[in-house]
Formats: sequence, structure tokens, C-alpha cells
Amino acid sequence: KTCILIGAPVDSGKERRGCLMGPDAYRTAGLAEALTDLGHRVQDMGNLSPAAHTPDTGEGTLYRPNETIAWTHRLIRVAEDAMARGMPIFLGGDHALSLGSVAGVANHAAARERPQFVLWLDAHSDFHTPESTASGNLHGTPLGYVTGRAGFGGFPAITNPIPQENICIIGLRSVDAAERQALQDTAISRHDMREIDETGIAKPLAAFLDRVAAANGLLHVSLDVDFLDPMIAPAVGTTVPGGATIREGHLAMEMICDSGLMSSLDLVELNPFLDDRGKTAQVMVDLAASALGRRVFDRPT
Ligand code: ARG
Ligand code: MN
Ligand code: MN
Ligand code: MN
Repeated sequence: KTCILIGAPVDSGKERRGCLMGPDAYRTAGLAEALTDLGHRVQDMGNLSPAAHTPDTGEGTLYRPNETIAWTHRLIRVAEDAMARGMPIFLGGDHALSLGSVAGVANHAAARERPQFVLWLDAHSDFHTPESTASGNLHGTPLGYVTGRAGFGGFPAITNPIPQENICIIGLRSVDAAERQALQDTAISRHDMREIDETGIAKPLAAFLDRVAAANGLLHVSLDVDFLDPMIAPAVGTTVPGGATIREGHLAMEMICDSGLMSSLDLVELNPFLDDRGKTAQVMVDLAASALGRRVFDRPT
């Protein structure tokens, strides 16, 4: 594969700063080398900046909306372009980057007449709108945006909304009341940590991957650091105890690799300022490597 590394140091999606250092932490942890070792071609586009925008004033209920909107404009174009050339890997940056990455890959899929699917690995559902968010943090809104929910005035219009039934969220353990209410009436498949505890992660994930394959879909994977347990992945501003283990993470990534379906990937919410000797950056790089073919033994066929 041709892996296109896209540094997206988005830090406007929430108040705690530091995610802007994420792309360089992934590089320092050896992402490009790991992918090259697996036989992939790697192109690093360096770090992007947002489109030109009016500076945020600090007024209003949202945190830095203009900057996030400008990032969204930029990332939609970059995602569309990168999809035509290979597999984009978006190096976040906070989860607000996925407003742009997912909207952009969805445009590409629509142009190719392929259905776009999204796997959201996260403690949170990120299904808010700018009107429902209580925190004002736009990193809590990307799934609301890409599914075409109302309330995103000022953002680029969503031309190709992701159908609800094409979305699967795994890892949930922090869902705000307004999100729970809104999710209730959707066809988004959602799997909380209790379900993972009871059935394992393989079962819901295999069912979703089967659906993607049956539809000949493209699969975008959005991996939020806080999907993982804070003990193994402390470098994130929104830790929630009780997350996925290293093994659950790798199993999920190896299954994604085996499916051959992944066409784009976000690595988001890494805040290197909060890390412990780079361990979170390293675990994210190792997970990305598993998703792209690293394994202990080849599977018997
Ligand atoms: N639901 C909370 C909020 O909207 C937390 C969102 C966390 N999102 C994330 N991408 N880490 O503020
Ligand atoms: Mn998230
Ligand atoms: Mn999260
Ligand atoms: Mn939440």
C-alpha cells in the first residue's frame, strides 16, 4: 500500500492544549519506519495548517469555532486528494480533525460510487452538535457533523452524509445525556465496554466488517487514544477508566487488517505533553502497524 501520512496538528477542538505535538510524536515513535518495514510505501506530507480564517474572539459558547472550521475546510480537500493517491493516515491532532477527514473521504467514496463506512474506536460517542454540546468542545461533534445533523451553521455543508447504518462505535463508556438521547433514534451501531467485557471485541467488530465487505464499502477507522485504558495510554486529555486493553486493541487492528477493508485512518487525541516517556505514542504506532500487517505469525489458511 501507499500510506500517506498527513500531519494535522489540530488543537482547537478542546481547551487543554498539546495535541498539536501529536504528529511529531508519532514520527518520533517510528511510524514511517514501522510501515516501511511492513513493505508499504510511505509518503509524509508534513504538517498542515488550517485555511485562512478570522481569529476566534473567545465570545460565544463554542471553543475556537473559526479555527476548527478552517481546519475542516483544509482537511476535506486534503482527504479527497489523498484518497485518490493511496491510504491517508491522519496524524492528530484532536478529534475535531475528523470533521474534515471523514467528510473528505466520504466525498471521494461518493465520487467512486462506493458506500463509505466508519469505525469509531472511542470512549465517547462524539455525536454532539454545536447546539447540544455542554462543553463547547468541538472534538465532541465529528459524528454529529458527518452524519449530517443540523446545527453546524458556518461549517462546510456536508455533501455526502455517512448513513447511520454505516457507522459502528466501539469502546463507549462516556456518553453525555444529549448524545444518548440523540443516538437512541439512530441506526448507528454502538458497543459499550460492558458488551466488550461480556462478548469480547471480536464479535461486534466481525459483524460490522462483514457488513462493510458485503456492501463493497470503503472503511474509515477513527482511533481515539481514549478508546484505550488510561493505564496503557495516559497521554490524552479525556481519559476514562475501564478502556480497551493492549490485546483488545491489537486484536481489533489485526482483524481490520485481515479484512483488507481499511481505506483511511485517523490517529487522534494524542497529547504528548501528558505522556509517560512516549509510551502512548508508541502504543498508537504499534496499533497502526497491526492494522497495516504486523503480526507474530501468519495465520494458517
Ligand atoms: N462528551 C464530551 C464533550 O462533548 C467529551 C468529548 C470527548 N471527545 C473526544 N474526542 N475525546 O465535551
Ligand atoms: Mn473522540
Ligand atoms: Mn474520546
Ligand atoms: Mn462524552
